[in-house]
Amino acid sequence: MARRLLIAGNWKMNQTKREAVAFAEAVATRLAAGRPDADLLICPPATLVDAMTGASSGSGLAIGGQDCHTAKNGAHTGDIAAPMLKDLGASHVIVGHSERRADHGETNAVVRDKAAAAHASGLVAIICIGETEAERDAGKTLAIVESQFAQSLPAGATPDNTVIAYEPVWAIGTGRTPPLPEVAEVHAAIRASAENALGAEAAARLRILYGGSMKPSNARELLALDDVDGGLIGGASLKVEDYWAIVTAGTAAV
Ligand code: PGA
Repeated sequence: MARRLLIAGNWKMNQTKREAVAFAEAVATRLAAGRPDADLLICPPATLVDAMTGASSGSGLAIGGQDCHTAKNGAHTGDIAAPMLKDLGASHVIVGHSERRADHGETNAVVRDKAAAAHASGLVAIICIGETEAERDAGKTLAIVESQFAQSLPAGATPDNTVIAYEPVWAIGTGRTPPLPEVAEVHAAIRASAENALGAEAAARLRILYGGSMKPSNARELLALDDVDGGLIGGASLKVEDYWAIVTAGTAAV
């Protein structure tokens, strides 16, 4: 089953408007010269979504949010609702990133409701799951990832409105990645869980991204793994050259 790669950048709390627009324009120029066989997405801070959807309009570079509230509006100071992201031209939103789970106490139930809110607004939810280093050391990786998957997936999830990102917490921003067989094993387990939840046909179409210290030098081998259908890239997505190197490494790998 051929799944189209999704090369997604997660900019976290970085970049100014000028940097963001320059990035979008530079990627648009590259896309005008030739479209790689992959979907391209950048998730900047919410402050930059409007400028980036404007600068990338029609280019093939999609723009997404990094989080959304479970409610579509209301008295939630400082929060962003999924319809607001949609209103600015976003197509995707990350939910349940480990930094949100850790910094904001987001549980699987909250993540599931956020993904449902994304779906209700017509956004694709990128649901993040992954074990901590202590959980890995205790041999609990598969159990943790399987339960996070089952509990974070909302009713109505399909391969068209949902992407899963497997991000080992200990690999994020550390320069460390799991050995390739371990990545392959976890992704296969997630796909098996997806078969239980969604059925075999939908599970075969579901995209499962790897995230955690993906960079130009390791992207090709990670993206060549059978059940790795793209990347969620933090630090290495901030510079056009690095992001584009991962895009080209990925498309060479499949
Ligand atoms: P990193 O972050 O690529 O900087 O490790 C990935 C992520 O947190 O999504």
